[in-house]
Amino acid sequence: MGYMIGIDVGTSGVKTIVVTDKGDIVAEATASYPLYHPKAGWAEQDPEDWWQATLESLRQVSQTLGSKANRVKAIGLSGQMHGSVFLDEAGHILRPAILWCDVRTSSQCRYITERVGQRELIRHTSNPALEGFTAPKIVWLQQNEPEIYERVDKVLLPKDYVRYRLTGELFTEMSDAAGTLLFDVTHRRWSTHVLDALGISPDILPECRESTDICGRLRPEIAEATGLPSNIPVAGGGADNACGATGAGIVRPGRVLSSIGSSGVILVHTDSPQTDPQAKVHTFNHAIPEKWYVMGVIMAAGFSLKWFRDNLGHLEKQMEILTGIDAYDLMGEQAASTPPGAEGLIFLPYLNGERTPHADASARGVFFGLNPRHTKGHMIRAVMEGVVYALRDSVEIIREMGIPISQVRAIGGGAKSPLWRQMQADIMQLEVAALNIDEGPALGAALLAGVAAGIYESVEEAAENTVKIIHTTEPNHNRAQSYNDYYQLFGSLYPALKDSFQKAAKLEV
Ligand code: XUL
Repeated sequence: MGYMIGIDVGTSGVKTIVVTDKGDIVAEATASYPLYHPKAGWAEQDPEDWWQATLESLRQVSQTLGSKANRVKAIGLSGQMHGSVFLDEAGHILRPAILWCDVRTSSQCRYITERVGQRELIRHTSNPALEGFTAPKIVWLQQNEPEIYERVDKVLLPKDYVRYRLTGELFTEMSDAAGTLLFDVTHRRWSTHVLDALGISPDILPECRESTDICGRLRPEIAEATGLPSNIPVAGGGADNACGATGAGIVRPGRVLSSIGSSGVILVHTDSPQTDPQAKVHTFNHAIPEKWYVMGVIMAAGFSLKWFRDNLGHLEKQMEILTGIDAYDLMGEQAASTPPGAEGLIFLPYLNGERTPHADASARGVFFGLNPRHTKGHMIRAVMEGVVYALRDSVEIIREMGIPISQVRAIGGGAKSPLWRQMQADIMQLEVAALNIDEGPALGAALLAGVAAGIYESVEEAAENTVKIIHTTEPNHNRAQSYNDYYQLFGSLYPALKDSFQKAAKLEV
């Protein structure tokens, strides 16, 4: 039996899994690294940390496999999108990578929009200029660190840097290229129009292949250092959202991914590129050749609840130490004892600004409607509901685009908690499915490796062979009206506060 390895280069760490062709996990390892915030709004990481963590996780899974390590047939890579790794001619890292959650580039976004024109940008790349994307980071380097920009020979995305260290090859693939704002998502090639307009040489970009192509082979010295077979193929792999979708079986029209991780994602598969005329949701290439997806991203989904736990959940954390019961479960119990709608308490989960639908780095978190009867349980419920209202914004845009939605597949923290699953079903008024495996992007990456190695004929076959629905949560129709009312109220708050957020941002610095 052949094994496949999936590596996900995430924001908090690397996750590596080894799977069989049926999707059984036979080994897994994680290794974490720091995230640096050298200035307010900045988010950077050292690509060398990604590499060391990848090596460490590969050593660990190989140790777990023991003599069976020689059954590994291929490796697939997935990773956080949009991050920029600047390399010189010798392949050395020129400065820390600037990440997807870094919002230093608001003025570069305005510059790009002026240079290219909003309509042309959407025509050529299917997306508007947003702080998180890669092109604004390259322009930021041009404008702010010209001496480093002069020395840039290649710009790589996070997982593609790890590929470079694993194989010595410089490649990217469609799904990650799509998030650079330099890629023509419809025609599946680098956009010379946008590159020319921004004065960026196409030579600094790697060749772009399919997610299922073989893009290099494991170097013998890395094979030796990790105990894995030498020369095994490394697949193109994909962006974490494309791989997360693949690993959740979002490989056919109608299927929607609802992911509550640190950020939150609503993603729907499409057979052709579909662009929101207002560009509030992103249109990217899927990890399946000639397929696309539409996606809304909220910046603080699980992060909002984690923030609450870390700052207001000391008791629950102490209880976790004493009883072994997870602090999130204890918080969930308190939320469950309050009624849907949290008796009028609404939370805007904009702690880190917001991407979809507001594209506003200055937006901030808000508790609205506090009254003396509200308890901690109400606040926890409001945080969880606020995250789902924010996700529903993306569902509504996708519905308005006329893209069919038949089923939501939940992954991440929002899938593990029955309460959060029910909230998603009730607030979106859709059936919410939970899956047999929730290994996220690492699984999708492993499946792409399986296709590259010829274990599966197609990505669709790989996903149907491994991902199964084990549970569905039906929407409670009695709650639909009151949740609709709360959702309308939620939607009215951001426009009312928009100017105040701008003023507050000036005071924050
Ligand atoms: C997607 C995005 C995030 C990162 C997180 O556009 O910015 O989901 O990919 O890893």
